[in-house]
Amino acid sequence: MKKIKVGVVGIGAIAHIFHLPNYRNHPQVELVAVTDLDTDRANKAADEWGAKAFASADAMFRDAGLDAVSICTFNTAHAALAIKALEAGLDVLVEKPMTATVEQAEQLHRAAEQSGRILMVGMSSRYRNDVRAMKGIVESGELGDIYFAKARIIRRRGVPFGWFTSKELSGGGPMMDIGVHALDAVWWLMGMPKTDKVMGKLFHKIAPYHTKTGGFYEAMSSNNKENPVYDVEDLGTAYLTFDNGAALTVEASWAVNGVQDDAMKIELFGTKGGASLDPLFVFKEANLIPVESRLDIEGNDYYKEEIDHFVQCVLHREQPVSDVSQGLEIMRMLDAIGRSSEKNDVIRLLD
Ligand SMILES: NC(=O)c1ccc[n+]([C@@H]2O[C@H](COP(=O)([O-])OP(=O)(O)OC[C@H]3O[C@@H](n4cnc5c(N)ncnc54)[C@H](O)[C@@H]3O)[C@@H](O)[C@H]2O)c1
Repeated sequence: MKKIKVGVVGIGAIAHIFHLPNYRNHPQVELVAVTDLDTDRANKAADEWGAKAFASADAMFRDAGLDAVSICTFNTAHAALAIKALEAGLDVLVEKPMTATVEQAEQLHRAAEQSGRILMVGMSSRYRNDVRAMKGIVESGELGDIYFAKARIIRRRGVPFGWFTSKELSGGGPMMDIGVHALDAVWWLMGMPKTDKVMGKLFHKIAPYHTKTGGFYEAMSSNNKENPVYDVEDLGTAYLTFDNGAALTVEASWAVNGVQDDAMKIELFGTKGGASLDPLFVFKEANLIPVESRLDIEGNDYYKEEIDHFVQCVLHREQPVSDVSQGLEIMRMLDAIGRSSEKNDVIRLLD
């Protein structure tokens, strides 16, 4: 059985929870190399996961004999590392958000096109059974044309600890961190139309807070450990319109005075029916009577399925379900949301 050699850059929380175990357990992968700015962490992880630690990403890309790499660093380091990996002839799985800025996204897009290598963006929600079931329902035509949608991930108190709250390291707040999951999933479900106009509003009203419960995600890196820097929003909201006439709203918060709910919520409104998540409901009419069905979908290990998909793409030279062009369009939306908020004006992305 053919096996690919894989390395991981950035051995923090998400690498430990998701990339390292799923690579190590994959029958067609040899997890051979790791690297991190924190060399102690890289050495420790190398022992734990049976890989070799490299002093730098450059050395790892050059000397480890890799086929593919995962980039799991702070958002602002994604683009430069992914470009170097592509130039070294490697296929790349880059964590979300694809980059920290739209300029970096354009550079990465160009590098991926020129290299002919695979660039997959880690949009993990697309591998959820319920999201995939929703996609199947949309594609069957059962809902008709989807003309409006809503997506949100709302945490009442859930600022992550670490670099996420420093714009220099993250590129943005909850819209960039968790809103990207909701925005990507709903846009994918709607058939990925081209973005026309964007009206965004980012608020910074509550964080950092002194509430006694809260923050549950903690980055492993020591940067901005106790969140001394907090220069991003705590609530992001936006209204986007598309070239096919459809529109969507998206909301993402780490802190808001409302109901605590960390789940990704999506509503699709179509001409023949609608659907909502989570749980998954379908709304239709039968004999002129409104009916709703709740679909019983078993949860799945969608991080594992994301890695399986990346490995399949590398082995069989297939385009990933979330590719670099789509990552660029999502970064255009996120950038336009930020600019619209700053200017208090609508941003037009179509000429
Ligand atoms: N898919 C998901 O649901 C999900 C969940 C959490 C985090 N993430 C993403 O994963 C990425 C990492 O987040 P995390 O929570 O693991 O952070 P983390 O702080 O725990 O880990 C990041 C690691 O990257 C290292 N690093 C940073 N820059 C580097 C560089 N230039 N070269 C080598 N190493 C470098 C740091 O030293 C640190 O060990 C982020 O992009 C984040 O948005 C995705």
